[in-house]
Amino acid sequence: MERTLAIIKPDAVANGHAGAILDAILKAGFAVRAMKLTRLTPAEAGGFYAVHKERPFYGELVDFMSSGPCIPLVLEKSGAVTAWRELIGATDPAEAAEGTIRARFAENKGRNAAHGSDSVENGRLEANYFFPESEIVAIAG
Ligand code: RTP
Ligand code: MG
Repeated sequence: MERTLAIIKPDAVANGHAGAILDAILKAGFAVRAMKLTRLTPAEAGGFYAVHKERPFYGELVDFMSSGPCIPLVLEKSGAVTAWRELIGATDPAEAAEGTIRARFAENKGRNAAHGSDSVENGRLEANYFFPESEIVAIAG
């Protein structure tokens, strides 16, 4: 079954939206296979978004992602990567479709409520950035 890594980002946790986002995840039919509350160090946040390290927003992104608690989750569903990115909506909430998580809960393009892996391969790699296989719970079998 396909896996993706979701993060309920620090803005959404601080603004009290974690429960509503988890509700949207479950209503959309994702199986939650791992979840934790954690506060990333700047090094952990920087490593996670290392692909963006030459981008002008990288410093701001690392500061934001380490600014308070966040909730990483491993989600599983057929087509999980695309399904989760559709549910969170476009990076900039001003461009996100109505009803998407970013349209409902994001503050702006940087503080945008949720993360989603961008490929099946990254879904697996990013799940293991936060959770060793021993912490990814088997649901069936
Ligand atoms: P994510 O990786 O968090 O799911 O977001 P994404 O794929 O939609 O967007 P990406 O291009 O990967 O950017 C990663 C995160 O960096 C912040 N960002 N800020 N101020 C800006 O112009 C800007 N652009 C990107 C956002 O937090 C974005 O989600
Ligand atoms: Mg991305």
